Amino acid sequence: MFHVLLVAGARPNFMKIAPIVGALRRCPDEFVTTIVHTGQHYDEAMSAVFFDQLGIPRPDVDLEVGSASHAQQTAAIMARFEPVLLERRPDVVAVVGDVNSTIACALVAVKLGVAVAHVEAGLRSYDRSMPEEINRLLTDQISDLLFLTERSAYDNLAREGIPAAKAHFVGNVMIDTLLAHRERARAAFDRSRFGLEGGPYCVLTLHRPSNVDREEDFARLMAAITAIADEVPVVFPVHPRTRPAVLRSPLATQAVERGRLRLLDPLGYLEFVGLLDSAHAVLTDSGGIQEETTVLGVPCLTLRENTERPITLTEGTNRLVGTTTGGILAGWKALREARPPARTPERWDGRAAERIVDVLRAELPRLRTGRVAVAGG
Ligand code: UD1
Repeated sequence: MFHVLLVAGARPNFMKIAPIVGALRRCPDEFVTTIVHTGQHYDEAMSAVFFDQLGIPRPDVDLEVGSASHAQQTAAIMARFEPVLLERRPDVVAVVGDVNSTIACALVAVKLGVAVAHVEAGLRSYDRSMPEEINRLLTDQISDLLFLTERSAYDNLAREGIPAAKAHFVGNVMIDTLLAHRERARAAFDRSRFGLEGGPYCVLTLHRPSNVDREEDFARLMAAITAIADEVPVVFPVHPRTRPAVLRSPLATQAVERGRLRLLDPLGYLEFVGLLDSAHAVLTDSGGIQEETTVLGVPCLTLRENTERPITLTEGTNRLVGTTTGGILAGWKALREARPPARTPERWDGRAAERIVDVLRAELPRLRTGRVAVAGG
């Protein structure tokens, strides 16, 4: 029997652990699971609603760290996770994505001699000013098992001296969740709830510090977005981090008053997927939404200078338009002229979690015997 401890902390983590928990629990004679929520995201709309809608069992442990500076948040997660690990003594700690909870728990585990599995490993934006890039680089260095969503990640890992034998191209667990819930999201979608009558609309999400923390950066984006909104109305579920920027933006306020920009609180998973699925186009700076729109076949303009998910550009519907007003408007014009064709990337077939479980079954006996006993101090 193997004990797998899964860590989730921030909103994009929840849809990634859901299918893995499901696949492990379908093999109750082989695996037991513990779910640890770090509490990095804690609002009902940023956390609990995802557990409910995705059928994820309630976390066994909630570290309740909340929001703080990077150092304080990462340190608090580490300090609170260490005694949990010492008490629970799992065979492997599975971390997902690239948030502060990911690196914090991986670091605690490796120092206690517990194997680390990183799901969504090997992605690189090659932009070290992004906190997520630092989290990705460091987590991959200390992981024993690296689960890849796209083949380009093999090259990134090789450049950093990480042996290919540790890496397993399994597909994309977030797409497992999308495919499992797409029909339910479609059926539940109600345009009128979003103030939308007939006709096309766009969806906007923004939360990157480099886009929303400084007024001048946000103003540049808003100049383009409000011009787009005057052509096609834009629905904008606002991340808590972004709310102050929206409230102090005169362009955003005027577009709201004209009825072209619709501000919403953060949405649950099913509501959001339903909204994406019927959208004319999506404007975002999220990582995961670039992947979801690719599978849904909805054009995506990514308001960033780079992406760690290049397959969404080469095979998906994604286009990098940068963060200048002119760049975004040029991307919009190109999209209006020709919608991008889409193919579903290799192994984004809803079976990534099953493949992860197969690898765990094959690799954990070796990893377990190669370990020193968990010891504190
Ligand atoms: C984090 C991740 C980012 C991910 C994003 C998804 C890191 C470094 N960043 O960014 O990679 O794409 O989550 O949402 O881990 N807040 C609330 N309620 C909540 C959570 C946050 O009000 O439930 C507000 C707080 O003011 C907080 C701010 O949002 O200070 C930022 O939260 P934080 O978890 O630090 O980072 P995100 O910007 O959400």
